[in-house]
Amino acid sequence: EQEGNHVTYSLTAQQGETELLDGHRTQTLGYNGAMLGPVLRLTKGQQVTMKLSNRLDEPTTFHWHGLKVDSDADGGPHNAVQPGEDKTVQFTVDQQAATLWYHPHYMGNTARQVYQGLAGLILVEDSQEAALPLPRTYGVDDIPLVIQDRYFTEDGRIDYNAVSNPDGTQGDVLIVNGTVKPYITTKSHWVRYRIVNGSNASNFDVALSGHHNFYQVASDGGLLTRPVSLTTLRLSPGERAEIVVDMSQYKVGETAQVTVNGATALAVRIADVADTVAFSPDMALTTIAPLPESDTLATLPRKHIELQGMGPMVSINGRTFSMERIDEQAVFGTQEIWEVTNPSTMMGGMIHPFHMHGVQFRILSRNGQTPPAQEQGWKDTVLVNPDEKVELLVRYERKGVFMFHCHILEHEENGMMGQFEVK
Ligand code: C2O
Ligand code: CU
Ligand code: CU
Repeated sequence: EQEGNHVTYSLTAQQGETELLDGHRTQTLGYNGAMLGPVLRLTKGQQVTMKLSNRLDEPTTFHWHGLKVDSDADGGPHNAVQPGEDKTVQFTVDQQAATLWYHPHYMGNTARQVYQGLAGLILVEDSQEAALPLPRTYGVDDIPLVIQDRYFTEDGRIDYNAVSNPDGTQGDVLIVNGTVKPYITTKSHWVRYRIVNGSNASNFDVALSGHHNFYQVASDGGLLTRPVSLTTLRLSPGERAEIVVDMSQYKVGETAQVTVNGATALAVRIADVADTVAFSPDMALTTIAPLPESDTLATLPRKHIELQGMGPMVSINGRTFSMERIDEQAVFGTQEIWEVTNPSTMMGGMIHPFHMHGVQFRILSRNGQTPPAQEQGWKDTVLVNPDEKVELLVRYERKGVFMFHCHILEHEENGMMGQFEVK
């Protein structure tokens, strides 16, 4: 019904104050509020107008992470909105239902602005997903979990400058949807969580109390072909997953938990396990075009991306980011293989989450092996382990100059980013 419609959102980046720890107020940044921002609901086929305002005292941008739009609407480092400035961008949603997110991307301000609270959720909907028996009552059996970690000062403040770290600023307190120690009460048999790793730098191993299994139904860019049963799920910064949990694995009256690296991210009080939707772990979710045959793949051009270094000494292919330099050229409508490597160093090296703007890609292989089922869908961010070689199948469907970068935001700020131009 909504398909083909037009929607307008107004987003104002602003300063505010939030009480995250009882009795302590901290300065935060938010969109239209003190922290985080409104959920942007978009529908496939919709024309979108974003009215953007910057009421911060420094430049920012509004980047739609995972959205396939031309680069002039993408909100990368080129699309600065100056303090006091208003800007309008327009685009058409031309991709399937997915859980995406938005955050600032101004070079030098990104990591701090995100850490202080600038981020929000984008839900893309379409008629194909809407016809499936998946939980989708927002806030009832369809729960967004924007997961971040923060350090607090002794007086209960979030102060990026006091804790920032060139290898990625982390934290010992989990914040979920801008809340410390959140809980929900559920009455539903099946509950869907849309999980965003919105941290600056931390890898999150998501699990359930009782070591129960769950079903991953979507990756960054949308539905998987069928639910994948897992007991733990690793998300690196920027990655998303949608999972469906069978709450009847718990007893009514029990408090279950979604855990992240062993700590409670969400407490879930089970009031009932009434049947709501006819979700089945065996159901087909969507069709994803099969990967090209190996002889076709062998003919595709390749780009080589080497992720290098740690801390302030990071680079890609030996170079640090320059807005004046195009690192890779690409032809609109064609596809290529991006071969991403992460050679370990004497210090062992570290995981780099590799992200591309303007595309959703497929993971062809990890060290020559087929990726696990939950990585066989659409992705825009991929965790690359030390000494791993990951091959990505990339199709260029939008025009302009796009970023590729490590999504450890401090690595990105230190120059672990490049640009590809699609013409
Ligand atoms: Cu989520 Cu270039 O960013
Ligand atoms: Cu992005
Ligand atoms: Cu990195």
